[in-house]
Amino acid sequence: MGVFYVTTPIYYPNAAPHIGHAYTTIYADVLARYHRLVGDDTFFLTGNDEHGLKLQRAAERRGVHPKQLVDEMAVLYKNYWRMLDISYDHFIRTTDDYHERVVSDAIRRLYDKGLVYKDSYSGWYCVDCEKFYSSGEYEVIDGKPHCPIHKKPLEWLEETTYYFKLSEFEDYLIDVLKNRDIVYPRQYAVEVLRKIEKEGLVDVSIARPKERVWWGIPVPFDPEYTVYVWFDALLNYVSGIGYGWDMEKFNKYWPAVHHVIGKDILWFHTAIWFSVLHALEIPEPRKLIVHAFLINRGLKIGKSSGNVIAIEDLLEHYNGSDGVRYILMRVFNHGKDVDVSNQVFDSIYNAELADNYGNLVRRVSVMAEKRLGGKVSGETVDPELAEPMEKALREYLEAMDSYDVSRAAAAAMEIARRANAYINEKRPWESSSPEKELYSLLEALRYTTTMLYPIIPRAAETAAQHLGFQIKNPRSLVPGEIDAYSVKRAPILFKKIQG
Ligand code: MSP
Repeated sequence: MGVFYVTTPIYYPNAAPHIGHAYTTIYADVLARYHRLVGDDTFFLTGNDEHGLKLQRAAERRGVHPKQLVDEMAVLYKNYWRMLDISYDHFIRTTDDYHERVVSDAIRRLYDKGLVYKDSYSGWYCVDCEKFYSSGEYEVIDGKPHCPIHKKPLEWLEETTYYFKLSEFEDYLIDVLKNRDIVYPRQYAVEVLRKIEKEGLVDVSIARPKERVWWGIPVPFDPEYTVYVWFDALLNYVSGIGYGWDMEKFNKYWPAVHHVIGKDILWFHTAIWFSVLHALEIPEPRKLIVHAFLINRGLKIGKSSGNVIAIEDLLEHYNGSDGVRYILMRVFNHGKDVDVSNQVFDSIYNAELADNYGNLVRRVSVMAEKRLGGKVSGETVDPELAEPMEKALREYLEAMDSYDVSRAAAAAMEIARRANAYINEKRPWESSSPEKELYSLLEALRYTTTMLYPIIPRAAETAAQHLGFQIKNPRSLVPGEIDAYSVKRAPILFKKIQG
């Protein structure tokens, strides 16, 4: 039994979460559920990033205090995560007291160590990213610097600020990125290394003047400043598990931390985060799992691009959380952007969930009930099914343990595909003694259902309950270990979508 700690980015609650946020959060949830199932002591942290200029302005536009806005939004986010069956253990908000104290103490420690100094600053800033862009990074449109992600004009900032001496960590970072296997997939470590080689590591601003950004944690050694929102936000990963207030909990989970992020925030989670951790004498994360974007009409899906796909629309179209979860995990891609297409999504849902898995559950349960009154016993699984089951399980475990949820889903579905083909071939409905076949089919279903559980927890629970088995650790599945099934007719788990 191990320990597993997984995090999502904490989201800016200036608007409701959309399909892009769901993509990351569902993925983290699948990892968390899988690790709980294999018996790991698991902690899953998500939450909201509530300070900074972006939130300050969003509140101004609505004519409310930012605290009121973020309070309302926290309720809204939790509600979306509930609708998507996100099993987080803690929802962190950067306005939480314990977090604010950790941030304040951390910046003071860096200051006391001589890693923070005051100087003037000027540069181009994107409020949507809450980030400064250098001349090599921004795009020039109509002669003006624009954000490469949001395609909006950047704002010119000139102010006196506090810098963090990031430049001191160059050798450390190059060494970690080159020699340690933290960033997954590796291509992203290479990307960061190239950027460091090209531009070097320059010191970064970690404060904003209070007169401009008053909605933030006060800098403890200078009340005229608030802490820069990214410095504040990154520390959620340690404050959320007790750093500075429950060190026993922190020491248990931190060595097993897996950060899940989109590629847009790679720099912050490598160059800046690893250096801050190093400065605070906290070991670097075990894994940084990066994924690419969901795109629509060629652009990253996001509020600023105006191409948002709403979670509630997806839930309605795909008949609840399992459909949405499965589709997003089936297309999940670490390296390549994925185009959101109704056609592709509908066909994944229909072919894999409705026609393959859902249909199998229904068919087998109805046959077991009609032919054997629901009582199905057996000792061995027909090798025609046992072999593909064991092969698929090995593939599934290997894929899950290497963060490849999409391949794991495909492996689970392969068993259902073989089982449907087996029914068509053996025609148990015509047989006078179909028990042997039905037993083998139930065993195949126990395998698929167990493997699919982290991705489609509701349907998997319903199937297990009707077929008469318990979902348990997939690492210890053995074919033939159930002596007798007591089967009830299962409902239609995935209603087909008409095109
Ligand atoms: N608040 C910061 C993160 C701080 S973490 C210490 C932030 N928030 S965000 O609301 O903009 O969320 C960004 C994250 O949302 C991305 O890294 C990604 O995980 C997810 N996504 C948002 N849009 C997405 C797509 N279109 N596609 C895939 N993921 C997307 O950045």
